[in-house]
This record gives sequence, C-alpha cells and structure tokens, in this order.
Amino acid sequence: MNSADVLSLCKRRGFIWPAYEIYGGIAGLYDYGPLGTAMKNNIIEAWRRAYTLGEGFVEIDSDTIGPEAVFKASGHVDQFADKLVTCTQCKTPFRADHLLKDKHPNPGALNFEELDAEIAKHGVACPDCEGELSRSEEFNLMFKTTIGPGSAGRVGYLRPETAQGIFVNFNSLLRYMRERLPFGVIQVGRGYRNEISPRQGVIRLREFNMMEAELFVDPNDKTWPRFRDVRHETLRLVPNEPGDKEVVMSLEEAVEQRVVANETLAYFLWFTQRFLIMVGVDAERLRFRQHLKNEMAHYAADCWDAEALLSFGWTEIVGVADRGCWDLSRHIEFSKVDMSVLMRYDSPVEVEREVIKPKFNLMGPEFKAKAKLVGNALEESDPKEIKGDHIVVLVEGSPLKVDRKYFDVVKVKEKVPGERVVPHVIEPSHGLDRIMYTCLEHAYTEKQDKEGNYIVMRLSPISAPIKVGVFPLMGKEELITPAGEIDWTLRMNGVLTSFDDSGSIGRRYARMDEIGTPFCITVDYQTLEDGTVTIRERDSTEQVRVRKDEVVAILTSLLCGSADFVSLKAK
Ligand code: GLY
Repeated sequence: MNSADVLSLCKRRGFIWPAYEIYGGIAGLYDYGPLGTAMKNNIIEAWRRAYTLGEGFVEIDSDTIGPEAVFKASGHVDQFADKLVTCTQCKTPFRADHLLKDKHPNPGALNFEELDAEIAKHGVACPDCEGELSRSEEFNLMFKTTIGPGSAGRVGYLRPETAQGIFVNFNSLLRYMRERLPFGVIQVGRGYRNEISPRQGVIRLREFNMMEAELFVDPNDKTWPRFRDVRHETLRLVPNEPGDKEVVMSLEEAVEQRVVANETLAYFLWFTQRFLIMVGVDAERLRFRQHLKNEMAHYAADCWDAEALLSFGWTEIVGVADRGCWDLSRHIEFSKVDMSVLMRYDSPVEVEREVIKPKFNLMGPEFKAKAKLVGNALEESDPKEIKGDHIVVLVEGSPLKVDRKYFDVVKVKEKVPGERVVPHVIEPSHGLDRIMYTCLEHAYTEKQDKEGNYIVMRLSPISAPIKVGVFPLMGKEELITPAGEIDWTLRMNGVLTSFDDSGSIGRRYARMDEIGTPFCITVDYQTLEDGTVTIRERDSTEQVRVRKDEVVAILTSLLCGSADFVSLKAK
C-alpha cells in the first residue's frame, strides 16, 4: 500500500479529491467529499469535546483575514518564509531543503549559503528537467491581499495560523475568564500558506484545516494539576540530541530528567497522544520528536512534533510548542495595549520603591503654564529612565528634556496586590488534514477472499463517517419495513447510518468495510419470529444476535467505547 492507493480509495468513495479538477486542478488544494466531511467533523467534535469538556477550555471563532499590523507583530511578515530555488530552464519552483532530503540529515536547518553549497556539492539539478537550479532565496508563505477598495485599501493577509486570532483577543478572553491564569482557548478553522511546491497529497496544502489550542499560563508556574494523574503514562520521545535516539519514558521521568521542559508541556504531549490514538492513529506508528534549536519556528522556545509514520516517512501531524511570551509581548509592543495579567498575592505585600517627586516650586518660572503637565509627566515616569543629569518626558505628545534640578528621587512604601506578568503560551497545534490522512492510511487494510482483494478501512468508531450499515437480508417488504424502522430510530438517536437493500449481503458488508463503517445490522426472517437482529463487527467480521429494541443502547455503547464487541459476544 502506498499513498496513491489511499488517495485513490478516498477519491472513489467520496472522502477527499483534488479541487477544481474540471479545470485541471491546482497543487495543494483538495476538497472533502461527503464521507470526508463527515469524518472531519467527527474528528473536530472529538477534539473539541476533549478540550472543552475535558480540560475546561473555551472556543472562539475569529476572522481568517487580518491587517498587516497583526502579522508584523506576530513575526510572520518578516520571518514566515521558506527557501526557494527555481529551475533556470523550466522555471519550476522547489523548496531548497526538500531537494536535499536524502542528502543531508537536517536540511531544514541550513541557511541560504549552506543550502547553495550543499546543492552544488551533491550536484542537485531540477528533478523535472535536470536543468541548473538558481541560488536559494526567501519566499514568504503568506497570501497577501487588500482589505477595502482603491487607495483606501489596507494590506492584509489570509491567516497562516488560527492562533493569532486568539492572541489579539487576549484581553477580552482574560476578562471573560475572570482575570485568572491558567486558561485555555481553542479554535478550529482554515489557515493559508502559499506553499512553494506542494507534492504529497493532502500532507502539504495551501488551504488547510487547523485545530489549535492556546493555553495561557503563569510564566512562574508551569505545573499542571492533572499531571499527577497521568505521570506514569509513557511517551515515545526523540529528544533533540545528536543521534536522533528514541526513548520511551514516563511523563514523570521526562520532566524530572528535563527531557521535556515542564509539566504542562508534558501533560499536553500525553493529551495529544491520547486524542490521536482515540481518533485512529496507530500507537505503534506515533512518536514525539523535539525540534532542533535552528529548526524551531520564530515564535517557539521549545517544540515537540507528534509524528506519524506514513508511506512518506515520519510526518508531523501536531506541533506542541512552548511559545513563551513571544506573541503577547509582540502584540503589546506593536499595539501599545497592555496585555499583562495581575497574579494576585494571597494578601497585599508592602514594598518600597523609588518614585520621581517634582519640585513644583522651582518649575513655575521655567515651564510656566505647562508646569503642572510636566510635573504630572515626571510623576508617571520611572526613575530608571533618568539619564545622568536629566530625564526625557512626553508632554502633550512631544518629548521634553527636564533637568535633574527640577525633581528628586524618593523612596515610598506601598501595598501591592500582586505581580504583573505577561503569560506564556503552550500550544498544541493540530494539522487536521494530516490527522485525517493518517487515520485513513493507518486504517487501510487489504484483505483477500474468494472473489479477490478487497479493502477494509479499520477506522476508529469515533472517526468513521457512517457508524452503522442497516440491511434487510432480502429486498422483501416484510424485511425492509422493520429494517427501515431500526434505521430511523438510530438516526433519530444521532447515529449516522447507511440503509442498503441492494446486492448480496456479502457485497453490502464489503461496501461498508471499504468506507470504514464499524458495525452492520441485518434484519432477517428470524427477526420476524423472535424480534432479534444481527450486529456484525467490521474487523473480526463476527456477528452477535441482540434484541432489536436494545440495538440503540448497544450500538451507542459500542460506538463510544464503553462496551466492546468481544464481551457482547460472550454474553
Ligand atoms: N500555530 C502553529 C503553526 O502555525 O504551525
């Protein structure tokens, strides 16, 4: 099996297909079909519930387009770029680091000169026409646009991450959360990156779906209350040390041995792992790799990628980053809006501090009508700003040099309620399309029966788009009617079904197996006699008979994992 097999099934059965195909398609743009959309929504819902119900995060929905100032502050205008080389013959663009993938252990960390040198050293030519490549240059990945018409238009960008929509709303969110840390905010939505050369199906998209969680924490306290409960759980880690050595460690060991920087980061690595396995990522093909220092995004102080083993090799599907105070500090600097948080002491603490005391009696003759304004400006200034024999203050918007003889520096005692901090951010950022694709590739199983090869998609019941196939054994009215009633009852209880009364029962099971439907119910002649139906489980293909009035309760428990098919059979 390779990615082409998976993508071919996805297209044929309506999960995912290339966008704008009637116009030849565009690299990096894919659409979700009916089954893909249902599956994507199931994954989103599982993620949403894990964060909101499980961890008390709140969800917002912010704009996907933003003014330049936001992305200047976030660093994306100046630093969100890949390194581009172009074929001098056929003009095809390539990501320089991708061309060195098999020739250098970490091409993503090379600067322009190093990339050019490596390309020359290995004689790398255009993969399409073998033409000579240009020198590497910077290419910003944001889609630029104009907000508003004509000369009134302002430069804007499609968001490259949903995260900035949370950071710019920080003060409103803080108010909503009653001014207390820590608190977490999630957002699901589209992000846009004008990728240089998207080539791996849905792995590298130009318009993509993200699920991002931003957890705002006190920089002086990165402990996490529920860490204790899961400290013995294990993670498969590849720390950023020479040799890319993989270790399996408990969360507790990882934090104690400083492999993972703090409890909160470790807890959310585990939380991410649990979520990914729940939606169908194979635990045996999942690990966390720490970024090298020179590989990290401009905003990250530390970052671990959840990587899935796919037919493309180990591939990032989630990034769990400690963004430190980068984003809020930058928005404070660029917007001039205070975004710090008062971390209250148990009771106010008396502190002594130095303040500037204007000598109003001397200021009148010098500053005349502005003496009061200058005095007020001095009182508001920090003594640290005094430069030798003077200080510069702002009076009516203009800087004014005030000589040292017009003020004193005195010590005052005051009660302070707490310390103001700029929160740090821990961010689990999920590439939803990559998670979807991973679930699909990990579920893809080829089986053989007497009619030949067929495909079973072993999707997790949580992600599977259709939960139950409902079949009358034969297309006879006396079986269709009770089967239709069961189908209707399941749907009215929120279980998405597929009713199918055409073809052999074997074909009907196979159709459901191929789209990952975990259970099928069949109504047969015994149903008319004793009111029982069969439930067939996809992976074992085993069947059990249950009373038809118990079907909803049984399937609901099977689908949410509170019951398992083996124990049902043993009953
Ligand atoms: N917010 C994380 C990312 O942009 O990848």
